[in-house]
Amino acid sequence: MPYLETAVEIAREAGALLANYFERRVAFEVKGEFDLVTEADRASEKLVVERLRSHFPSHGIVAEEGGGHDPQAEYCWYVDPLDGTTNFAHSFPAFNVSIGLARAGQMVAGVVYDPIHQEMFTAERGAGAYLNNRRIHVSQIKRMAECLGSSGFPARKRDHNVNIHFYYQMAMASHGVRRTGSAALDLAFVACGRLDLFWEFGLKPWDVAAGTLLVTEAGGRVSDMRGAPHSVTQSDHLLADNGSLHGEVLEAFGEVFQGRLRVPLPPVP
Ligand code: IPD
Ligand code: CA
Ligand code: CA
Repeated sequence: MPYLETAVEIAREAGALLANYFERRVAFEVKGEFDLVTEADRASEKLVVERLRSHFPSHGIVAEEGGGHDPQAEYCWYVDPLDGTTNFAHSFPAFNVSIGLARAGQMVAGVVYDPIHQEMFTAERGAGAYLNNRRIHVSQIKRMAECLGSSGFPARKRDHNVNIHFYYQMAMASHGVRRTGSAALDLAFVACGRLDLFWEFGLKPWDVAAGTLLVTEAGGRVSDMRGAPHSVTQSDHLLADNGSLHGEVLEAFGEVFQGRLRVPLPPVP
């Protein structure tokens, strides 16, 4: 299908633009107290949206910095022009451009491109997931005690976010939990087995559209954190893993939802 090829071309072009800004170290502005945005976010979004519009004029677009239109169209693109802005603004090299396509609400194609490491993650519904054109698969880790996880925390309303409890539960029960600062890369890393699981509250459609398809096409499983089906546009939280871990992780999360931690937090001396 031409959609994926075109999205790959556009992601490569937007990635080169981001890499260029990254070298030059752009200043950041704040959207909210800790919510950053840079000229690079806007320039990348402009490029991606213009290219998608000219290739697919009848398609809708939902883009983080507001450049979209017609989200009810049968085909709708979800665009994160720069996922990992906080990393980017601090010259921490973990960011990407993420472009996903849904048809009638179902993800059909997705691209996550990291221009610093030149890694192009791609997936099409029913055709598998790939990293630089080589097929990728989720990990085969079977026990939570042996897994490496990742999670994230929102830039907005941090004081309303309960994730630190889930983070602690998992940190006590696994090899460790990373915080990469890029949800789309977290999902791409679950897809290729560098991570065994990823979860987060409050992600937006552009954060997860492409990445969730990568995970399912790589043989993994995606649901919300209570085990209900995950919706890119509706869910409040997401759990993506290699499939084997899903039940055990949902059980550990279920305990936290009920207010129970397996290991009590130590008192501060
Ligand atoms: C953010 C990153 C981060 C996640 C935040 C997202 P942005 O996206 O993916 O890892 O924890 O929830 O908002 O703002 O850099 O595009
Ligand atoms: Ca994002
Ligand atoms: Ca972004």
